[in-house]
Amino acid sequence: ATYKIGYLIGSLASGSINRTLSKALIRVAPEGFEFTEIPIGNLPLYSSDYDADYPPEGRSFKEAVEDSDGILIISPEYNRSIPGVLKNAIDWGSRPWGTNSFARKPTGIIGASPGNIGTAVMQSSMRAVLSFLDAPQLNSPEAYVKFDRAVFGEDGSVSDEQTESFLSHYMEEYAAFVARVLAADAPGHI
Ligand code: FNR
Repeated sequence: ATYKIGYLIGSLASGSINRTLSKALIRVAPEGFEFTEIPIGNLPLYSSDYDADYPPEGRSFKEAVEDSDGILIISPEYNRSIPGVLKNAIDWGSRPWGTNSFARKPTGIIGASPGNIGTAVMQSSMRAVLSFLDAPQLNSPEAYVKFDRAVFGEDGSVSDEQTESFLSHYMEEYAAFVARVLAADAPGHI
């Protein structure tokens, strides 16, 4: 079977290092996993006024999350937390009340920063949000990427062997985690 992974990039910046990281992750991912970006930049700012009649952007965001077997979040840290554009998208997916699209979606959280802690505080905020939304998360390994332009090529190439094997290990564990959660949630499985 092929697993469909939807990925969210928490940055709208044209030269986003997290977009570069996403290319590197997809390049080292195991066979049988297909990656599709779920765009977040077209979503209006969420308001509960939309709940009565969700606009097309909100609907297609929710559908894309629901159609995915797993979600991969690749995001910068902004002011020691989740970038507003990404939190806005998650809020869209969580509503209208009773239709939370993230429920039971196996999720991985990773991010890159030029700084030393490599988005650790964003990831911890994100874990709290995803826990509330009942999304199972890959707990280990964690991946805090200190981004070095000498190591990551724009095309997703990785020139440092240790970094490359760390990223492929992360993707192997993420893939195995998605498969495990789907199997455990399959009908008939206790
Ligand atoms: C940052 N940056 C940053 N970095 C970090 O490690 N911790 C932080 O709290 C913040 N805060 C922050 C706030 C805002 C508003 C900006 C614009 C930037 C720096 C950030 O890691 C850097 O700009 C990355 O390049 C952002 O990732 P993308 O957009 O290149 O993927």
